[in-house]
Amino acid sequence: MMIVTSMDELRIGRAMLDEPVGLVPTMGFLHEGHLSLVRKAKEECLSVVVSIFVNPTQFSPSEDLDVYPRDLERDLRLLDPLGVNMVWTPTPDVMYPPGFQTWVEVEKLTQPLEGARRPGHFRGVTTVVSKLFAGLQPQRAYFGQKDAQQAAVIRRMTNDMNFPIDIVVCPIVREEDGLAMSSRNKNLDPQQRQAATVLYRALTEARQAYDAGQRGAGELRRIMEDVIAGEPLAKVQYISCADYDSLDELETVQGKALLSMAVYVGKTRLIDNFVLQ
Ligand code: PAJ
Repeated sequence: MMIVTSMDELRIGRAMLDEPVGLVPTMGFLHEGHLSLVRKAKEECLSVVVSIFVNPTQFSPSEDLDVYPRDLERDLRLLDPLGVNMVWTPTPDVMYPPGFQTWVEVEKLTQPLEGARRPGHFRGVTTVVSKLFAGLQPQRAYFGQKDAQQAAVIRRMTNDMNFPIDIVVCPIVREEDGLAMSSRNKNLDPQQRQAATVLYRALTEARQAYDAGQRGAGELRRIMEDVIAGEPLAKVQYISCADYDSLDELETVQGKALLSMAVYVGKTRLIDNFVLQ
């Protein structure tokens, strides 16, 4: 497994890879969710590259950049047995050299949901992912449905910018009790960890209502709100039932829809979603 940091090292490493090359972009502190993307990439590509970079431009000043968990040694130990060909670990200086001033921005899809609560977040994501795409030039790139809006935004950007890259979106990997795997789960104490299952429970109840014929989006949102309200350690930031493609809030569910939410459990902000179709 090659480990490269600078753009020169990346170019030399890239030239040695068999194609198609699959990229799995991550911020490290890997768990089964990330590893599921790596396995999928390994099935579909002759070479797999994982990037590990805690991207400062997607965190706002009030967010958890400084406390974001990092453990490169452990990440490399997890990736090696999966047959990953190259790990790219750029430093902030490699990604944002002095004088950096060019940004990639998706205008509309980034407005609601996560974008409304995390100003500038998606501008940081699309800019760094563009740089990963341009630097490595993979044929495929793998993202998780866990970050549903991010996947939609990346798909839009890839189309709009003519990146010749197939975007593959993989299902959410969950703990046994339903909690979606996330690097941030490690910040939960045991009581909060128990409370955190409320996101999955809320989504499940809403889907049961949908399966039973409920098509009122307001009613589906209310069901999720009520479940979260029953958990004293949890506080809703947003709850949404939106059109899957436009991410506009719905009145009535007709085609494919996205149920999604952001909930604070203590100081930890958790997100989760289900797709209705
Ligand atoms: P990170 O949070 O490290 O996630 C990397 C990838 O793993 C993302 O595509 C995310 O959706 C996916 N992922 C995380 N948890 C998952 C789970 N439980 N099941 C399935 N997939 C999961 O997302 C980012 O990093 C960054 O924004 C990045 C795209 C790397 C740009 O900096």
